[in-house]
Amino acid sequence: MLVHVPAVLSAQETSRFCGRLAGAPWGDGRVTAGPQSGVVKHNQQLPQDCVEARELGDQVLSALDHAPLFLSGALPARVFPPLFNRYAEGMDFGAHIDNAIRRVPGSRLSIRTDLSVTLFLNPPDGYDGGELVIEDTYGVQSVKLAAGDMVLYPATSRHRVMPVTRGQRLACFFWVQSLVKDDAERSMLFELDRAIQFLSADNQNHPEILRLTGLYHNLVRKWGAP
Ligand code: NI
Repeated sequence: MLVHVPAVLSAQETSRFCGRLAGAPWGDGRVTAGPQSGVVKHNQQLPQDCVEARELGDQVLSALDHAPLFLSGALPARVFPPLFNRYAEGMDFGAHIDNAIRRVPGSRLSIRTDLSVTLFLNPPDGYDGGELVIEDTYGVQSVKLAAGDMVLYPATSRHRVMPVTRGQRLACFFWVQSLVKDDAERSMLFELDRAIQFLSADNQNHPEILRLTGLYHNLVRKWGAP
């Protein structure tokens, strides 16, 4: 399941991010690639320990705490420290599948990558190409979102970034280990949670909301693991 989370960052925040990233120490994107993806990866990335990556990454993590759609869609157990990438004209990232396990830099902690996340940082009219193309269960999806919007997709998916043919594409990306590893189970929980939210907005006092909420939590208990 793909989940589009709009407005994780505001317009002011994304333009501040882009300003900060303009003067950041960009390096070769292959530093975090595996042997297969390293061959097809042509982009730039911020070193994980540079001050811009750490400060902006922390701001993204804080924004996630206030993004209910992200929390409901990802059911995050662990979030990898956000990374930042840049595709200038002629850059792309060919078809690949993200590594299953990621060691968190500077720690002994590893994350199982259940979900991949891309947060778009600059407006889509600022560049041509650069679509994130994801092979989902339901076919091929091409994703190019407004600045500040985010997409979550199963890390099991084959995906690629189309060549940028004008301008540059700036994005933040990271992985999530979910409390619910299985994408189908997580998708059903997301649907159920959405239904409960809409029903509650419609009629907060409907007695069946209690039953549905209980069902939701009992399913998380059944399927979830920290
Ligand atoms: Ni990838």
